[in-house]
Amino acid sequence: MVKLAYHGHSCVEIESGGHRIIIDPFINGNTHAKVKPSDIRVEAVLVTHGHGDHVGDAAEIAAANDCAVVCNFEISNWLGAKGVKTHPMHIGGSHGFDWGRVKLTPALHGSSLPDGSYGGNPAGFLVFMGGKCVYHAGDTGITSDMQLYGRLNPIDIALLPIGDNFTMDLNDAVEAAVLLGAKQAMPIHFDTFPIIAANPQEFIRKVEARGIRGRICMPGETLEV
Ligand code: NI
Ligand code: MN
Repeated sequence: MVKLAYHGHSCVEIESGGHRIIIDPFINGNTHAKVKPSDIRVEAVLVTHGHGDHVGDAAEIAAANDCAVVCNFEISNWLGAKGVKTHPMHIGGSHGFDWGRVKLTPALHGSSLPDGSYGGNPAGFLVFMGGKCVYHAGDTGITSDMQLYGRLNPIDIALLPIGDNFTMDLNDAVEAAVLLGAKQAMPIHFDTFPIIAANPQEFIRKVEARGIRGRICMPGETLEV
């Protein structure tokens, strides 16, 4: 079993067996977040890509917790130059940590860092903790490759962007959940800014019509998988 805590946008904590990690810790500037970066207690910070709404408070949280930021090689270099502890990885690679295992998937998006530095290719994460597989898509459009990620790594819950404009919209996210063969799906990356307004209930209705359990987690809430 794993417990997910959602802080709005793409920021999710995953907890199992006393281990906890955070993905895309955009908290300062995220009006939906009900926590402060200093509230976060984790063993690792995972960052999908270089955009400011994903790197967010990664450096501060990693320093406060004396833990590494797990990210692609280019973001690792950028953070490392600022004195941040990192664990560089890249797409297709996986690694086992004390808290669990993570594998990087491709994402169809950009990844420049907040100061314009090159941020490598954007990624998604397959996180294996507590006997479950959680897929965090990062920012991405739909791709038929998703079928392969799910076939090779059976997915218990897929966290999918639905906000449109910068990523998939909710209709594509429903198709993505089907391609992934996910048992459950949860919408992320919506309503944080007016341009990514979306209706999570519509996503849930449509995904359930395709035989996948829809899960909504409001910012500040947790759910068990
Ligand atoms: Ni982005
Ligand atoms: Mn984004």
